[in-house]
Amino acid sequence: MTTVLVTGGAGFIGSHTCVELLEHDYDVVVVDDFSNSSPQALTRVEKAAGRPIAALHEGDLRDGTLLKRVFESHPIDAVIHFAAKKAVGESVALPLEYYDINVSATTSLLRTMLAHDVHRLVFSSSCSIYGQTETVPLDETEPPSPTNPYARSKWFCENIIADACLRYPELTAVALRYFNPVGAHASGLLGEDPRGVPNNVMPYMMQVAIGRRPELQVFGGDYPTEDGTCVRDYIHVMDVADGHRVALGRLSSGFDVFNLGTGIGTSVLGLVGAFEEACDVTIPARVVERRAGDVPKLIADPGKVAGAWGWRAGHDLHAMVRDAWHFQRLNPDGYETELSLTSGSPS
Ligand code: UD1
Repeated sequence: MTTVLVTGGAGFIGSHTCVELLEHDYDVVVVDDFSNSSPQALTRVEKAAGRPIAALHEGDLRDGTLLKRVFESHPIDAVIHFAAKKAVGESVALPLEYYDINVSATTSLLRTMLAHDVHRLVFSSSCSIYGQTETVPLDETEPPSPTNPYARSKWFCENIIADACLRYPELTAVALRYFNPVGAHASGLLGEDPRGVPNNVMPYMMQVAIGRRPELQVFGGDYPTEDGTCVRDYIHVMDVADGHRVALGRLSSGFDVFNLGTGIGTSVLGLVGAFEEACDVTIPARVVERRAGDVPKLIADPGKVAGAWGWRAGHDLHAMVRDAWHFQRLNPDGYETELSLTSGSPS
């Protein structure tokens, strides 16, 4: 049994990773400030895994006293660091807040880890650090060129962690650069439940499907892609969760980065079509102006992680849309929906 501290454990990817860890006999300690997540997510985690988490500490990672208490209270062996602000548009409006929260939390965490002889870290990074690239597919040798404060904060953190690993050879870390995580836990207990209007296409489409929003606006129909809409590499959130668990077992020395993607591109209209077919629901979709900052195609080259760890994403697009819809149908109001309503398996 190993005790893993999961920062941001109530968030979309954090909560699914907690289930994955609990199911593989890890003890899980969560720190979350619930600024963009719900404590309900952790109740759902425990129900899905059939085991409780070891502890929850509510608070901000920049609070050194809180972190010290966490590390003194539990025999932490490794850390998975998800907690961060993640909305691109908001980061342009609030750059200092993004740098403060994302970067300071990471340095604070690293210092506390080192002070307590905890030397294993998996860091939540993003394909957004590659920026406005035309390379398809993207491997990890692509020079990062982030185009907004959110993406830059992730790139800074990767560098900070790399520098710390150089200075402290006992420290070992990997950064996982996710492409577009979507989907939900197959139980329907856990899924993506953003606060306010969703920025990302999948939760937005789910809210259209359930009738909370009238239509999906497709941002741009004149991109140089097959159907004119942007192409992304969607990856099932349970594959992302699995990737973190596998990464924990692979930490050995130094710092490394890995893409987590499928290597398969899907356009926005392709995603809508896949959803309509798999779930038998019609999505009113209308092509509108492009969204500033979008690139036509972002697809991972998943070869490095496959070569190093033998790891590959196991779920296809059908499973992604089916599981996202299963969660949304059982939880029309997200985690506000009564827990007793949520049971059953996907149709
Ligand atoms: C977004 C983030 C990125 C993050 C990634 C993974 C932005 C600009 N980028 O990437 O930093 O790492 O999620 O979570 O937020 N779309 C629509 N209609 C919508 C919403 C989106 O057509 O209502 C389109 C977008 O133009 C894009 C595609 O759907 O072509 C995917 O968008 P989204 O889900 O926001 O992901 P990314 O922008 O790829």
